[in-house]
Amino acid sequence: MKALKGALRWLFLRIEAGLGAVFGPRLNPIVQLGTLGWFLFWIITASGIYVYVFFDTGVTQAWESLDRLSREQWYLGGLMRSLHRYASDALVAVVIVHLLREFALDRMRGNRWFPWVTGVPLLWFMYACGITGYWMVWDQLAQYVAIATTEWIDSIGIFAEPIARNFLDSERLSGRFFTLVIYMHIALPLLMLLFMWVHISRHAHARVNPPRALALGTLGALVALSFAWPAMSQAPANLDRVPFTLGFDWFYLTVYPLLERVDGATLWLLLVAGSVLLVLLPWLPPLRKAPPARVDLANCNGCSRCFADCPFGAIDMVQRSDGLAFEQEARVDADLCMSCGICVGACPTATPFRRAGPLSAGIELPDRSVAALRNQVVAATATLTGTARVLVVGCAHDAGSAALEDGETAVVGLPCVGMLPPSFLDFVLARHHADGVLLSGCSAHDCYERLGDQWVEQRIANQRDPNLRARVPRERIGVAWQNPVQDGRLRESLVQFREQLRRAAPLRRSSVSSTTRTTEGTTEEATRTPPAAWRARLGELPAPLRWAGQGVAYAAVLIGVGVFATQPAYTYLAADSALLKLSFSHAGRPLKPCRRYSHEELTNTPFSERKATSCERGRWPVYVELDLDGRPIYRGTHEPAGLWNDGPSAVYARFEVPAGRHRLEARLRDDGAPSGFKFVAERTVELRPGENFVVDFRAAEGGFTFGLPAQESAGREAP
Ligand code: HEM
Ligand code: SF4
Ligand code: SF4
Repeated sequence: MKALKGALRWLFLRIEAGLGAVFGPRLNPIVQLGTLGWFLFWIITASGIYVYVFFDTGVTQAWESLDRLSREQWYLGGLMRSLHRYASDALVAVVIVHLLREFALDRMRGNRWFPWVTGVPLLWFMYACGITGYWMVWDQLAQYVAIATTEWIDSIGIFAEPIARNFLDSERLSGRFFTLVIYMHIALPLLMLLFMWVHISRHAHARVNPPRALALGTLGALVALSFAWPAMSQAPANLDRVPFTLGFDWFYLTVYPLLERVDGATLWLLLVAGSVLLVLLPWLPPLRKAPPARVDLANCNGCSRCFADCPFGAIDMVQRSDGLAFEQEARVDADLCMSCGICVGACPTATPFRRAGPLSAGIELPDRSVAALRNQVVAATATLTGTARVLVVGCAHDAGSAALEDGETAVVGLPCVGMLPPSFLDFVLARHHADGVLLSGCSAHDCYERLGDQWVEQRIANQRDPNLRARVPRERIGVAWQNPVQDGRLRESLVQFREQLRRAAPLRRSSVSSTTRTTEGTTEEATRTPPAAWRARLGELPAPLRWAGQGVAYAAVLIGVGVFATQPAYTYLAADSALLKLSFSHAGRPLKPCRRYSHEELTNTPFSERKATSCERGRWPVYVELDLDGRPIYRGTHEPAGLWNDGPSAVYARFEVPAGRHRLEARLRDDGAPSGFKFVAERTVELRPGENFVVDFRAAEGGFTFGLPAQESAGREAP
């Protein structure tokens, strides 16, 4: 597991770096998989509603209505239909990569178990939506999906009568089940939306919308694919024929071909076991968490900034409990806390300038106190020499900031750079501990602690409390967001930052007051909007190359989606074969014959309760045999359904047989006799390639029937 995770992590970090070079950090699709999932869901919903307006819900009319829509209204109806299909396929790809990436980057343990575990039912919903969607088209693929799915469900044995019998042949095709599937295709996405909301509900400020340019690019690409390669129906379904090969959607139907090799119940077991394993993954092994954040009420004024900034929803503002003259106080839920420290960075009392009393903030990480941080900063910078001394504040997931330490560079590590209160930046420069501070965090727009980079940038740019004081020269505060494999870019950032410091105006003594204020307050400072933090100009690809790269990336995804939505074709039935089905539902004889009530018994029974016979519950199992050309191909004993074993016995079996002339012999007993058969029938049939031929049993009609009524010959009862 560790090796797999390591290999995937290596891969994902490099993909992220590569795509980042082409798309830039904000539009990097690999860090937007969750938001892209939401966006695709909305495309699927909007296009689905449009298609549904023109969809005829009758089982035989469904195909025609969709085919008409695609052909007659190709510019809008056809487009919507194609968008519906391709966005659904893209959703599978996006969600699977999203899952693998969260696993690879280890973002599923601790408090993150919740989005992980709620993601698992989302997988089931997603596949169920897709499968029911293919069913509704009622083309050959729908026919395959309907039969394979119902046979697969029947393998669990929950229905008294196999539901696959609804699709046995054209005579028995039932619209009931088809209507149910349509309802499911509408209800399941609604449930999925509910779960999508639950999925992100524990994350504060969860992102659900991709950046506009990425959304437009994705939509544009899907529209282009829809016009270039419109999604069409396959030939209309005909239950009396079996399609040989099918254009197959490998995104949704991936496991279906396995049903020809593994029995259905085993496949269910594998999928359920796989899901259970997925659910357990966050605890294999559990995260060894650092101690959670702790509130010190003596220093908490109830300002709620920690509550606003905590990325994991671990802080609540509750009524004041200590009698101080504040309305609220912060309370940390230790189970939800991921010990990222971002709340410490948000707390206005976490200021290193404080003179009165020991330095202690309203909220602290017990093993990383603000006082210790100040001491660490002072000690680490004390031995720095040179004209451009830099304090690097790194995080646990950056590109290796610890390795930057040298005579001119001090490094202090935090769980997340968002833990650094902005007043520390002021402190370092105002007290001349260093000439500049470089904040080295992990990926831009994909901070390991979710919001660290965002809050840091906003605090520096005076867009979020606690603001960095306007007097702090922003050219001396640098940010470098690089993922762990981009150590070269981090080093380059430091080199450029130092050059920048050498060029910058000298730090003026006058700007170095030792105030205890940490947030904007004076009108003089509030009216100036300071620039954002400095960042290095790192080697970027020329714009034409970036555009070309984006084009290639979109095209690669679209070709993948377009191709695997129908290719490679799946061969269901060999060209010279036919399908023989033995299927019926028949109630065996009662275990004991019914007894007529005697006249005396009837007169002793109240009038309203009288009936002619007394029948005990329980029936004999049905035993059936089928021979093909004198060879046994089926022998089976079928127990009666129902809690009291008094329901019908159901039989459903299918065999691929060579087309041509065959002799069929069927035998059945239903009365518990140890040998002999009550019903025997035989028939020579000519099976055409691709024919679906059903051997049925209808006691009321005299016994076995072979094929449709047109070709049918009733079985004869054995003497
Ligand atoms: C329709 C399917 C899905 C959609 C639309 C979706 C969407 C999202 C979104 C938008 C987020 C980001 C929240 C944020 O940090 O702002 C997220 C996070 C997450 N998702 Fe999904 N997701 C889906 C399926 C899954 C599945 C199948 C799994 C895994 C079993 C999963 C695991 C996670 C985890 C672990 C996180 C938390 C990441 C973190 O804490 O930084 N998701 N998802
Ligand atoms: S340490 Fe992080 S997760 Fe814990 S309360 Fe503070 S901000 Fe929230
Ligand atoms: S940010 Fe600090 S002072 Fe404000 S509520 Fe949180 S702990 Fe209290």
